[in-house]
Amino acid sequence: MAVLSLPSFLLIFSFVFSAALPEVKAQQAKDEPYVGVNIGTDVSNLLPPAKLVSFLQQQKVTHIRIYDSDPEILKALSKTKIRVIVSVPNNQILGIGSSNTTAANWINKNVAAFYPDTLITTVAVGDEVLTTVPSLSSMLMPAIESLYSALVASNLHTQIKISTPHAANIILDPFPPSQAYFNQTISPVVVQLLKFLSRTSSPLMMNMYPYYVFMQNKGVVPLDNSLFKPLTPSKEMVDPNTLLHYTNVLDAMIDSAYNSMKNLNVSDVLVLVTETGWPSKGDSKEPYATIDNADTYNSNLIKHILDRSGTPLHPEYTSSVYIYELFNEDLRSTPVSEANWGLFYANSTPVYLLHVSGRGEFLANDTTNQTFCVAMEGVDGKTLQTALDWACGPGRANCSEIQPGETCYSPNNVQNHASYAFDSYYEKEGRSTSSCDFKGVAMITTTDPSHGVCVFPGSKIISNRTNTVVNSTNATSGMETSRFVGDNLRVFWGLIIGVIFCLFIL
Ligand SMILES: *[C@@H]1O[C@H](CO)[C@@H](O)[C@H](O)[C@H]1NC(C)=O
Ligand SMILES: *[C@@H]1O[C@H](CO)[C@@H](O)[C@H](O)[C@H]1NC(C)=O
Ligand SMILES: *[C@@H]1O[C@H](CO)[C@@H](O)[C@H](O)[C@H]1NC(C)=O
Ligand SMILES: *[C@@H]1O[C@H](CO)[C@@H](O)[C@H](O)[C@H]1NC(C)=O
Ligand SMILES: *[C@@H]1O[C@H](CO)[C@@H](O)[C@H](O)[C@H]1NC(C)=O
Ligand SMILES: *[C@@H]1O[C@H](CO)[C@@H](O)[C@H](O)[C@H]1NC(C)=O
Ligand SMILES: *[C@@H]1O[C@H](CO)[C@@H](O)[C@H](O)[C@H]1NC(C)=O
Ligand SMILES: *[C@@H]1O[C@H](CO)[C@@H](O)[C@H](O)[C@H]1NC(C)=O
Ligand SMILES: *[C@@H]1O[C@H](CO)[C@@H](O)[C@H](O)[C@H]1NC(C)=O
Repeated sequence: MAVLSLPSFLLIFSFVFSAALPEVKAQQAKDEPYVGVNIGTDVSNLLPPAKLVSFLQQQKVTHIRIYDSDPEILKALSKTKIRVIVSVPNNQILGIGSSNTTAANWINKNVAAFYPDTLITTVAVGDEVLTTVPSLSSMLMPAIESLYSALVASNLHTQIKISTPHAANIILDPFPPSQAYFNQTISPVVVQLLKFLSRTSSPLMMNMYPYYVFMQNKGVVPLDNSLFKPLTPSKEMVDPNTLLHYTNVLDAMIDSAYNSMKNLNVSDVLVLVTETGWPSKGDSKEPYATIDNADTYNSNLIKHILDRSGTPLHPEYTSSVYIYELFNEDLRSTPVSEANWGLFYANSTPVYLLHVSGRGEFLANDTTNQTFCVAMEGVDGKTLQTALDWACGPGRANCSEIQPGETCYSPNNVQNHASYAFDSYYEKEGRSTSSCDFKGVAMITTTDPSHGVCVFPGSKIISNRTNTVVNSTNATSGMETSRFVGDNLRVFWGLIIGVIFCLFIL
């Protein structure tokens, strides 16, 4: 209906340009926008892949981007519902762009070998190539085209997209958004790229940081605007050409990308924000890198995206975003903020708690005090038993719950009992890393090892042991306990009677 009412030149234009794409766009617009996370790995103690994946599941993270194609991570993601963007590092672009064979090998080794068990959605070719490695600019499109040919050859091109993330500063004069345009020096590559993205229904990937816009334009861009805080109408930015009201900087940045594309006659490519975030700590020159601001930015960002507000220019379409980033990358140096973009520390305890209540469980699982110490699997039983004896003896761990009849006795094996004892000791020692070693047979985990009626020390799970004992219709375990106590009493009385009897005889 709407198409029929369009002026005929537009119809012809869109037909010639590509008849199928408006439908694709409508299709994509229907997809729920999501919030994903970037996983940088300059972390001294990165969780091993399996733990990383269970942590992501626990936090209900559905989309991630990694900066390489780490086979261990891709393997661990297999059979999960987590969708992943894999990346070609900048230093491989030259090789891939110069040889179709290299490109085909890359796709075979890093994509085809894992898909569809691992839900790879997109291949990101390099990162911010046009601005950080301009010498590679001329190889970017050849690399993208040959990777695409390789995907076609593997018949994966309809499921898996290819694009390349850009720094926001490829767009000049972004405010007001209606005047924005791509830096002309790089527009030959951008024009080719947009043709490719349009032809393959792939997104324009943009790394967009209201934090940097704010820092570079202090006094012009208000902090509230950068943090998605509710604004009085007088503080909203009004685009003088469109009269659109902008209540936050990110929306303005996204619309600046749409307007820049429009200037090149491209109107059917969607923007995907591959990075955005706010640092929680900085040096003296970074006074706005605070926990409060980071929390406010990321919490409001999540609400803004999940509320499907769209942008003033495109209220019908909400870009998905990837938060930069999941973990603080402690190995990064100056400025201080570089190591403090994460939502979590490396051990997966949160840097701050997001205010995202009412938006489902996404990133809402507070793991602040959720580390446990358990026995490693596959360790020799005798070594475990020795460590267990030490913990419950000289270590003075509270081992009452692993005694016969108690809640954590079952399963009655040394692995379970050692885990309980180790965790009890670890709790007692204030969860210091050094207290979870036991000659190398123990490890720290964020997965709560509690099971059944057994609640491990430090768990937030409320024990339902009392219920079980009190519940008369299901009091088996309660009866076992009283029988156990009763047996002891009989033995006890037996002893006393025996002693009295002996005394009497004497
Ligand atoms: C947090 O994660 C743990 C471990 O997966 C789970 O047992 C718990 O129910 C989760 N809590 C919330 C609020 O989702
Ligand atoms: C790679 O393949 C494409 C099409 O399949 C072809 O146009 C191009 O010339 C090839 N490039 C090289 C370097 O062989
Ligand atoms: C445009 O891009 C070129 C090449 O990267 C760069 O040298 C130039 O400074 C950019 N122009 C602006 C105004 O940022
Ligand atoms: C965009 O389209 C207009 C009108 O059709 C044309 O004048 C202009 O040259 C085109 N610009 C580009 C960059 O293709
Ligand atoms: C974590 O544990 C400490 C000490 O037990 C306690 O003071 C703090 O409130 C806890 N934090 C959360 C978020 O539960
Ligand atoms: C040992 O743990 C049990 C169960 O959590 C608790 O009831 C008991 O008070 C603890 N004993 C000591 C000495 O802390
Ligand atoms: C509570 O009891 C039920 C039924 O026995 C069990 O499935 C559950 O795991 C128990 N423990 C907790 C912590 O909920
Ligand atoms: C009832 O007893 C059965 C068998 O001991 C046990 O598996 C189950 O978890 C108990 N249910 C509750 C609610 O305690
Ligand atoms: C007692 O146990 C029965 C059977 O397991 C269950 O249906 C019932 O809800 C329990 N009652 C309470 C108060 O826990």
